[in-house]
Amino acid sequence: MPIDIRPIAPADIPAIAALARATWLDAYAGIISRAQIDYMLAQRYDPAQLKADTENPEKWLHQAFIDGIRAGFAACEICGGEFKLDKLYIHPDMQRKGAGAALIAHVAAIARDRGYPGMILAVNKKNEQALRAYARYGFQVRDKTVTDIGNGFIMDDYIMEKHF
Ligand SMILES: CC(C)(COP(=O)(O)OP(=O)(O)OC[C@H]1O[C@@H](n2cnc3c(N)ncnc32)[C@H](O)[C@@H]1OP(=O)(O)O)[C@@H](O)C(=O)NCCC(=O)NCCS
Repeated sequence: MPIDIRPIAPADIPAIAALARATWLDAYAGIISRAQIDYMLAQRYDPAQLKADTENPEKWLHQAFIDGIRAGFAACEICGGEFKLDKLYIHPDMQRKGAGAALIAHVAAIARDRGYPGMILAVNKKNEQALRAYARYGFQVRDKTVTDIGNGFIMDDYIMEKHF
């Protein structure tokens, strides 16, 4: 199936926020509480925040379409001098069709073009589907972190890296 990758523009933001919500509710049920999902969605997918992200030259937001249907998106940024995959979300109905792999290949090309030797990401230690996917994409666990994100919530993550 043809997979088309395009930058996320301000006009796409409502659709991206809705896609993020559907994907988070599916992916994180059983991993973090519903209260934490709602808290993190409000923090990260507020339209004003997403619009600011699209305008930041040190952030890259791209979406993938499969047969013309919006399947998912990725967001990257520079973090501590490293190129970081900050978000990768494929709608539950569109998973395992190669959109995640296509987005990873696309952002890895951006990182390589800018001279970064690799890329990193953080993934919840219990997110087995994502851990399998990242291993498939060539990432390895480098570290683990527990981050206090306020309101009594934490993120309990592995840091993974992939060298080009
Ligand atoms: C993890 C995710 C980004 C992978 O993207 P994708 O487009 O679904 O996956 P791809 O088609 O590129 O396949 C890559 C690998 O992912 C794994 N995978 C994807 N969906 C899977 C599923 N439903 N069950 C088991 N493994 C799965 C497989 O290992 C697959 O490789 P394989 O088919 O050769 O075995 C996507 O499934 C997703 O958005 N999941 C929910 C949100 C999430 O956890 N995001 C990551 C946050 S850090």
